[in-house]
Amino acid sequence: MVILGIDTSCDDTGIGLIRDGEVLSSVVATQTELHEPYGGVLPEAASREHLRVIRNVLSQALEQAGLQLQDIDLVAATRGPGLVGALLVGLNFGKALALSLDVPFLGINHLEGHIASSVVGSDLEPPFLALIASGGHTSLFRVDGWGAYAELGRTRDDAAGEAFDKVARQLGLPYPGGAALSALAEEGDPAAVRLPRPLLRQEGFDFSFSGLKTAVATLLAREPDTCYADVAASFQEVVVDALQRTVRRAVETTGIRRVSVAGGVAANSRLREVLSAEPYAVHFPPLALSADNGAMIALAAHHLLSAEARAPERTELAADAVPYYPLADAGTDGASAGG
Ligand code: KG4
Ligand code: ZN
Repeated sequence: MVILGIDTSCDDTGIGLIRDGEVLSSVVATQTELHEPYGGVLPEAASREHLRVIRNVLSQALEQAGLQLQDIDLVAATRGPGLVGALLVGLNFGKALALSLDVPFLGINHLEGHIASSVVGSDLEPPFLALIASGGHTSLFRVDGWGAYAELGRTRDDAAGEAFDKVARQLGLPYPGGAALSALAEEGDPAAVRLPRPLLRQEGFDFSFSGLKTAVATLLAREPDTCYADVAASFQEVVVDALQRTVRRAVETTGIRRVSVAGGVAANSRLREVLSAEPYAVHFPPLALSADNGAMIALAAHHLLSAEARAPERTELAADAVPYYPLADAGTDGASAGG
């Protein structure tokens, strides 16, 4: 079965094709240069750019996979969460494609896509724990089955990637700054600068990163000569430590000793190093599938269509985008999600 997956939840136009769970192609058109001058994503511009490039991204994805439109058996697209204008482009494109090809359509929760991508290259099967750390989200899920997720914790303010981007900006690095900050941190001393450790004494599984950004701003205002590499290394260490501490506590609490990590921050080499040294199994997907892409949406559809999944087999074409879409509501009409 060939599934086409589409994601336009934020600033990447992603389309991928899979056959029986194997990724055949994944094409992502990023809008980094478009949004760089604003230091963040400009929603209106993102929608227009998705509209401009989406047909070309589809052609490339088909070409890479060596397939024709007629080979597609099902179209899946992200319904949410995300920017509503951006979501609508991929969602309506996907619905129209499904209608014209006379194949079923499946609306997917973007986070479900990240979870599906996080098991690629492993034999991970539910139950497992899934950490999603990106520019838009930082959450820890218990995956009881495909279509059955429990959110154990989430960020109370900024996402981990967002914190990387904001601190990178303070250090004069271009947006998005996660990778650049991480490279700078290589040259710094992670113990040089004292920064607050968020939620150190909590019992739950939440995250909080906005205080860190403020602490760095205060430090740089007070001591502008502080070595930037040391700031980068110290900041990165606190973020990685918070993620590791929380995942470890979740492993101990649930007794589930298998963890997957997805989202742009999964590319962070220090996070990989620290989590890989933990006494439980941690799986990182291929880098290309960690960040937003369309193949992960097709992969989520694949898992949801598997025999054991607790999920519907198709979505009504009247289904709307759901900008605020908790994963627990995935597969429903989104009404309870207020969308
Ligand atoms: O998943 P993603 O591509 O897009 C969404 O936000 O959904 O994640 C992008 C985020 C950005 O905030 C970026 O700075 C961060 O991932 N990122 C990193 C690294 N590479 C990307 N953060 C830390 N270390 C990295 N190496
Ligand atoms: Zn994402």
